[in-house]
Amino acid sequence: MCVRQLATLTLIVACAGVSMTSAMHAGSGCCSSEDARIVQEQWSTVFSAENSGKSKITLCREIFERLFVRVPNAVELFKDVGGDNIYSDKFSSQMVRVLAGLDLAIGALHDQPLLDELVEHLNAQHSVRDGVTASAFEVWRQIVLEVMPKIIDSFNSDAWMNCVCPIVHGIAKGLP
Ligand code: HEM
Repeated sequence: MCVRQLATLTLIVACAGVSMTSAMHAGSGCCSSEDARIVQEQWSTVFSAENSGKSKITLCREIFERLFVRVPNAVELFKDVGGDNIYSDKFSSQMVRVLAGLDLAIGALHDQPLLDELVEHLNAQHSVRDGVTASAFEVWRQIVLEVMPKIIDSFNSDAWMNCVCPIVHGIAKGLP
């Protein structure tokens, strides 16, 4: 059943349910071709070449700022990449890596094998990091869905839920 068919409360449950499947369904199932097109188009307004690097970083900083408030233990995880100062160049470069990873996954929504590969790789990169938890990813997903509507006109939350939840849950697959 697709998320768009459900009431708001059920949306959250449905999204959580996706995590119990696998990233293998990230570009299919609830993420219809039309959903994928919408997400890619809306994401491109954030990530396009015309959009300055500064505004991308501002967006990502807001996401991490909220993450660190809600999951204070997460700050320590980023100690090697400037997590103690989210305004530092060091942490900015970490944020660019995160955004680039997300950009690649969103860009592959129409190419399931490529998407699977990307999500599996991101999953492997996070699985080896002690202290990275599935619940932190869940908070991260919630924050993304809070922040994006602030910068994307006519934000289509259903399409984002349908396509982005499986990506995030796929990256978090198997984490404690
Ligand atoms: C969709 C969301 C996310 C994406 C696309 C993403 C992507 C990335 C990428 C590309 C890297 C660099 C990997 C490397 O070079 O080894 C990275 C590193 C890392 N990520 Fe994520 N990330 C996401 C969310 C999170 C969350 C929610 C956490 C935990 C709270 C997290 C924790 C880390 C840590 C601890 C590192 C290593 C930092 C270091 O180099 O010391 N990530 N992430």
